[in-house]
Amino acid sequence: MVVYQVYPRSFQDSDGDGVGDLRGVAARLEHLAWLGVDALWLSPIYPSPMADGGYDVADHTAVDPRFGTLADIDALVARAHALGLKVLLDVVPCHTSIEHPWFRDHPERYVFSPVDGPPNNWRATFGGAAWSPDPHGRGWYLHSFYPEQPDLDWRHPAVAAQIGAALRFWRARGVDGFRLDALQQILKDPALRDDPVATAPFPFPLDPDYATLEHRHSSDAPDTPAALAALRAGAGADALLVGEVFLPTARVLRYLEHLDGAFCFELFFAAWEAPALAAAIGAAADGRLAWVLANHDFPRLATRVGAAHVRAAALLLLTLPGMAFVYQGDEIGQQDGPPPGDGAAGQAGAGRDRAGRDACRRPVQWDASPSGGFTTGTPWLAPLDPERRNVAAQREDPGSLLRLYRALLVARRSLRGPVTELRARDGVLSFRRGAHRVAVNTGPREHPVPRAASVVVATHGGAPEGVLEPGAAVLLAV
Ligand code: GLC
Repeated sequence: MVVYQVYPRSFQDSDGDGVGDLRGVAARLEHLAWLGVDALWLSPIYPSPMADGGYDVADHTAVDPRFGTLADIDALVARAHALGLKVLLDVVPCHTSIEHPWFRDHPERYVFSPVDGPPNNWRATFGGAAWSPDPHGRGWYLHSFYPEQPDLDWRHPAVAAQIGAALRFWRARGVDGFRLDALQQILKDPALRDDPVATAPFPFPLDPDYATLEHRHSSDAPDTPAALAALRAGAGADALLVGEVFLPTARVLRYLEHLDGAFCFELFFAAWEAPALAAAIGAAADGRLAWVLANHDFPRLATRVGAAHVRAAALLLLTLPGMAFVYQGDEIGQQDGPPPGDGAAGQAGAGRDRAGRDACRRPVQWDASPSGGFTTGTPWLAPLDPERRNVAAQREDPGSLLRLYRALLVARRSLRGPVTELRARDGVLSFRRGAHRVAVNTGPREHPVPRAASVVVATHGGAPEGVLEPGAAVLLAV
């Protein structure tokens, strides 16, 4: 299945306040159906002080008034189902907002230091110490992310019971599954041992302060599967569960016991070079790794791989077996541009991200108007270049990136079987899937397209004539 990630603040505003909302999403679902995806994942929609764009949840079973009401999510789910789309919500099990009533009333559900101060050297993901003094005067609490996000203690039975109840609440409203946030952080060493100093670089981008340590004890604890089993029990056997586990593929596989899939960050961060891509695909041969090349946390796909490779990236993403995720706006090649905003970027109250992730969170560009059709008001983040790049224009243009995504989503339905004959040679990544072959030219030179093959989808005009240009990719029937 292909899942489209909706970042609700930046998808579609329906009431002119400059912030996207659920009615806006519902009004744009036809775009997803037209594109041909199977499901949408909504980044958090719950009440939140927005210290971390909604990943600081203050109530697990309600909708933030900025986004709408429970009636709006019910209507969105009903409309999605009528269009044949499944709906996944984002669940944040590792922590809550510091403003969640649990933090005030149920400190036993959180991880507190046994001493009067930080008990160890753990660092927080976005930098700084992972321990802060409790504003309610009960000592020091752990936060794997921002200080506004105290970590829940998944070894306390009330936590699994409460989060499980929240999952059942949403399932009963018709939600089909969940994307589970930051699962590598769900359980930590109960003895709170110091993390050792890092001796080798982590393979994915990290905050430089956080990267000074190897997170041997502050994450990925051996009993993590117990927490995942509790999440599965809460969600139900038939719910789709996709985990965000920010670890190399080899360490993600054990998380799959209770999940349907987990993101493959190795491909996400692979250099756009055939050997690196082949290595990442080969390492994920399990078949339950979900392919993803962009999300709301990192520079956009078009910005990372460059405009010359966005078409090939789309073809690769959508021809691999298993689940694939498309981040809103990538289907028209939206770029990050310069960091949006001004000094307000440092203020949590402005809803801006202190870790600098707003550039990839600009609104979707639906049309060529100055607001890109996102809002009739002042957008919370300015769109970058709607006059140059927008959904309306690309829908009309048969050569557009948007139409390529759509063609790939159709072609994908006839692909069968695992990746075989995976190769990286002379800058060309190639593999076979049953009766189909994929070739992606990451290098600077032209290559011949194998004869005796018919082109199913080509990113560039040359393939039908038998050449794979630099930046081009092709899906062949052999
Ligand atoms: C995940 C989210 C990210 C958030 C973090 C903490 O990595 O994708 O946006 O900041 O978890 O919840």
